[in-house]
Amino acid sequence: MKRTPHTICALFALIGLINGAQAQTAMTNPAPAMSMEANDSLFQQFGGKEGISKIIDDFLVVWQADPRISGKLQEADVDRLGALLKEQINQLTGGPAVYSGKDMKTAHEKMGLRNMDFNALAEDLQTAMEKNGVASRAQNKLLAKLAPMEHHIVTK
Ligand code: HEM
Repeated sequence: MKRTPHTICALFALIGLINGAQAQTAMTNPAPAMSMEANDSLFQQFGGKEGISKIIDDFLVVWQADPRISGKLQEADVDRLGALLKEQINQLTGGPAVYSGKDMKTAHEKMGLRNMDFNALAEDLQTAMEKNGVASRAQNKLLAKLAPMEHHIVTK
């Protein structure tokens, strides 16, 4: 079933709440001994470097075919964007890569992006993750890491 922008918004809000609750727990309880492994296992659940590379390649194809946001790529260097997204997602999932691109505010500030652009992009990423068999829980964990970037990226 295709998730609508509203479902995505609700999903981000829910994930935010869950994260908040987890952060609260982390502040009151001792640090979980498994946190490094949990991080590494998210990277593994994305299929490691190869899996992430395939997901981003598929994501860029879905994005380029999405009339809601394909125009945003018209003047973009898609190869460079893909390489940076691979680094970024690798790092965010606990992999060994180190993101070498611009910070999210600098990268997007002149684009006048709206909330609906962000949600469309999140949906396209979900389509690519789904296509590559990433488990829902792992998908949501990545979305939860991307959600706080929204206020740096959306300026309209
Ligand atoms: C969580 C959401 C997003 C993430 C993680 C993300 C990530 C990135 C990264 C890593 C870059 C490269 C930065 C650099 O040039 O050094 C970038 C650039 C870019 N992003 Fe995003 N982005 C997000 C949302 C969006 C949205 C919603 C759009 C438009 C619909 C968008 C359009 C672009 C474009 C057009 C570029 C520039 C490509 C170029 O100049 O060649 N991004 N983004």
